[in-house]
Amino acid sequence: MSDTDTAAEWVRMPANAGQGTICTAAQYEEHYARSLSDPDGFWAEQAGRLDWVQAPTAIADWSFDPVAIKWFEDGVLNICHNAVDRHVDAGRGDTVALIFEPDDPAGEVRRITYGQLKAEVVRMANALKKLGVAKGDRVTIYMPMVPEGAFAMLACARIGAIHSVIFGGFSPEAIAGRVEDCRSDWIVTADEGLRGGKRIPLKANVDAALGKVPAKGVLVLKHTGGEVAMRDGRDHWYHEFSQDVSGDCPCEPMKAEDPLFILYTSGSTGKPKGVLHTTGGYAVWTETTFRYVFDYRPGEIYWCTADIGWVTGHSYIVYGPLLNGATALMFEGVPNHPDHDRFWAVCEKHKVNIFYTAPTAIRALMREGDGHVTKHDLSSLRLLGSVGEPINPEAWRWYSDTVGKGAVPVIDTWWQTETGGVMITTLPGAHDMKPGSAGKPFFGICPQLVDNEGGVLEGATSGNLCITRSWPGQARTVYGDHERFVQTYFSTYKGKYFTGDGCRRDADEYYWITGRVDDVINVSGHRMGTAEVESALVLHPKVSEAAVVGYPHDIKGQGIYCYVTLMEGEEPSDDLAAELRQWVRKEIGPIATPDHLHFTPALPKTRSGKIMRRILRKIAENDFGALGDTSTLADPSVVESLIEGRQNR
Ligand code: WTA
Repeated sequence: MSDTDTAAEWVRMPANAGQGTICTAAQYEEHYARSLSDPDGFWAEQAGRLDWVQAPTAIADWSFDPVAIKWFEDGVLNICHNAVDRHVDAGRGDTVALIFEPDDPAGEVRRITYGQLKAEVVRMANALKKLGVAKGDRVTIYMPMVPEGAFAMLACARIGAIHSVIFGGFSPEAIAGRVEDCRSDWIVTADEGLRGGKRIPLKANVDAALGKVPAKGVLVLKHTGGEVAMRDGRDHWYHEFSQDVSGDCPCEPMKAEDPLFILYTSGSTGKPKGVLHTTGGYAVWTETTFRYVFDYRPGEIYWCTADIGWVTGHSYIVYGPLLNGATALMFEGVPNHPDHDRFWAVCEKHKVNIFYTAPTAIRALMREGDGHVTKHDLSSLRLLGSVGEPINPEAWRWYSDTVGKGAVPVIDTWWQTETGGVMITTLPGAHDMKPGSAGKPFFGICPQLVDNEGGVLEGATSGNLCITRSWPGQARTVYGDHERFVQTYFSTYKGKYFTGDGCRRDADEYYWITGRVDDVINVSGHRMGTAEVESALVLHPKVSEAAVVGYPHDIKGQGIYCYVTLMEGEEPSDDLAAELRQWVRKEIGPIATPDHLHFTPALPKTRSGKIMRRILRKIAENDFGALGDTSTLADPSVVESLIEGRQNR
C-alpha cells in the first residue's frame, strides 16, 4: 500500500457518532496537545475523577534511562473502592454492574448490581483473609468466565493482595511455572469450566500443578457440580468456607505504586514474564481510556468478548468498565456454540450497545455467511471495537457493513499487556476511520518509528514502533526480575520503550500496525513466544532440536509451524507428529497446538551455528522464491530439502 492512495481508504465517521460524544475532533486535538505540554496538569485532572484517600501531588516521575517509572507517587487509594463502593456510596447501588450470559443459551442469566457486587466482593475478600491471605501476597486466579472470577480479582485488590490471573486454557505445567515464579501460596479456582458445551477440568489441572509446586490453600467455586478431588486442609469449597465470614471488609489504603497485579505474557526469549502493574496509574489509565475510547454513556450495555485471563479482560471487562460505573456483559461461552450466530444472538438478547472483540473471531464468523448476522436485530449496537491483532481491511469492512450496517463507528485499538490499556485508536466521535489502521495516539502517547539502528524516522514511513514518554498505565517491571524488564523493553533502543511491533505511519499520521518484528507470534489474538513452543518440543525424548515460526493463517492471523529434528535412530511418522502435537498441548495448552510439524534431518544454520529463521519463515509462508542471501549457510543443501518437505502447500 503506498502512502499516496490513503484518500481512497477513508471511511467517514457516521454523522450521529458525534452526537453527545465525550470527545469531538477539536476536543481530541486540545486534550492531546495539553497531555503533552502539561502532562502533570492533564493527568491530575483525569485522576481527579477517582476517590483518593490522599490525593496525589506528585504526578509524573519517570525515566527510561535508567528505567524508573512512577505516577501519582504520594497518592493513596483503593481501586476496588473506586470500581465498586464509590458507585454504591453515590446512590447507584441498583445499577447493574455485570450481566452474566452462560455457555448454555438456556442457562440462567445473572444480573449483579453494584450493591450486590459489593457484597460478593466483600464475601470473597473475607474468605481470602480467612484462608490466610495478607496484603502483598500473590493470589493465583484460575477461573472460568463467571462473575466470581471478577469478584476474586476485586477481592484481592480490596485487601491489597496481588492477583495473578491464569487463562483457563493453560496446562498444569504452565500453572506450576507461574505459581512458582511469583511464589503464590493461594489459588482461587472452580471445579470445572464450561465452553461450547465442553467441560474444562480446572480443579484437576490445579491438582496436577500442585503436584509440582506447593500451595497453602485453594478456594474452589462449585460451578458445574462435576466430581473433583478435595485435599483436606488445603482445598476448601468456596460456598462452605465463606458461609460464616463477616459482611464487612474495609478497603485497604494502597500507595499508588503498590502492586495491583501480575499477568504473565510471552516474549521472544525464555519463559513467560510476569508483567507487573501498580495501583494508581493503572486505575487512572483504565478509567480514562475506557471513558474516551468507548465513549460510554450511562445505561448502555457494554460487551467485551475477551477472557479475564488476558489483559483485555483485566482492563476492559473488569477495571475500566467498573471504574466508570458501566454495565458490562460477561460471556462464558464461545462464538460458535450452539451455532455461529451466538455473538449476534447475545447482542440481540441483551441489547448490547458497545461490542468489542478480536479479528480472529470476526474472520471466523465472516466465513460462516451473513445469514447468521442478518437474522438478528442488532439495532442496539452503537459502537464496534477490535483488539488483539491487526485487522485486515476485508474483515474490517464486513464487521462495519454487515454487523454495524454501515451506521456505527468501528475502532481498532492497539495496545499490549505491558501498556495496561489502549494506546492507539480512533475515537468514535472524533475521527474518521481507515480500515486496517488503528489510527491516532491516545492522550499522552508519543509513538515514534525507528529503523533497525535506532535512527528516528520522520513523516510517512514504516519502522519499529517505540513510545518515547511514559503514560500512567505502563507496566513498572517484570515481577522479580527488573533487569529483564530493562533488557526486554528499553535496551534495543536506549531511552525508549520498544513495543516489539512493526508499524507504518501514513501521510495523515494514522498508524498501521503490521505485526511483531520479534520472535513472538500472534495466534488467534493470543500472544505466544516461539521459544516457548520450542522448549516444549525439545522436552520430548525423541526430539533433538526444534525451530518454530509463524506463518499467515486465514482465520487465526498466524499459525504455528514447527521444524523438528529427531534424536539419532528415531524415524519421523504421522503418529509421532500427532504425539508431538499432543505433547505441546499438554506442556502449554491447546492454544499452542502446532498447525504444521515438519520433520527435517537438519536446520539451516550459519557457520557459527545460528539458526537462520528468516529462511524458515519464508518456507513456512510457502514463499521460497525469495529466500535472500543463503551464502552464509554452513550447508546450503539443507534449504533444498526443507523446500521439498514443506508442509504449508
Ligand atoms: C498485537 C492485547 C494490531 C500487537 C491487548 C501487540 C495488535 C500484541 C492490536 C499485544 C491491534 C494488539 N492491531 N496488532 N489493534 N492489538 N495487537 O499483550 O502485536 O496480548 O504487540 O495485548 O498484540 O498482545 P497482548
